[in-house]
Amino acid sequence: MNLYSKIQDTKNFILQKINNKPKVGIILGSGLGGLVDIIEKETAINYTHIPNFPVSTVEGHQGQLVFGKISGVDVVLMAGRFHFYEGYNMQEVTFPVRVMKELGVENLIVSNAAGGMNADFTIGNLMIITDHINLFPEHPLRGHNDPRLGTRFPDMSEAYDKTLINKAEEIARNLNIEVKKGVYIGLMGPTFETPAEYKMLHVIGGDAVGMSTVPEVIVARHGGIKVFAMSIITDIGINASPVSITHEEVLEAANNAAPKMAAIVTELVKTM
Ligand code: HPA
Repeated sequence: MNLYSKIQDTKNFILQKINNKPKVGIILGSGLGGLVDIIEKETAINYTHIPNFPVSTVEGHQGQLVFGKISGVDVVLMAGRFHFYEGYNMQEVTFPVRVMKELGVENLIVSNAAGGMNADFTIGNLMIITDHINLFPEHPLRGHNDPRLGTRFPDMSEAYDKTLINKAEEIARNLNIEVKKGVYIGLMGPTFETPAEYKMLHVIGGDAVGMSTVPEVIVARHGGIKVFAMSIITDIGINASPVSITHEEVLEAANNAAPKMAAIVTELVKTM
């Protein structure tokens, strides 16, 4: 089955299960699972039950597509995403975004945990992503381009919607939540960076680095979906003396900052 037929197949399966018409898609990053609580839940479907969704190889993986309402707006939320480092190919990593598009999603909110390289950042900061640098070794649009899904050479001059960024900044100001802005560098992982790599990533223009988001954003833009994305800075890579990082520390820092992100997302969805 070609990609387009697979997407239709999956969409038709989902349409039989849901009553809402999601206009907004949300992807939750590591440690941000708590954000699922801001949804008035209507339907949740395990990834394992969705035809053509990648088969999770990670034990105890709690992947679900959750449908419901936030601030009265119909949304679809991915609780758990597919990372390239887990072994999925780029088509698999981004397949859920293709399905969201076919379900009617026009705005995508993407979240992640990221390492900070900007000297102004501290652990727990929220960073609105203004742009990205793609350092993944494989591109989600490589190969045959189906014009029904998007154009061969998508423009990326405004991958992150300026209007949504402005609205989010205003919301954060009103809620008294500090937000930073910056460039996200996406790369494969799964190793965290060496001190020399963090330094290089900063020199080439990155404020934060992580192992997700970029493929999903590229595919969303290919499909004409507007994107808003935000990182939680869970560790700082640029230091006089290098500090070690563990996945547990990343999860904890993300988890602690999640309520701030939830507050902003709840308000932002109202404007979509
Ligand atoms: N590097 C890459 N990915 C990450 C980091 C980091 O420092 N922190 C959280 N995700």
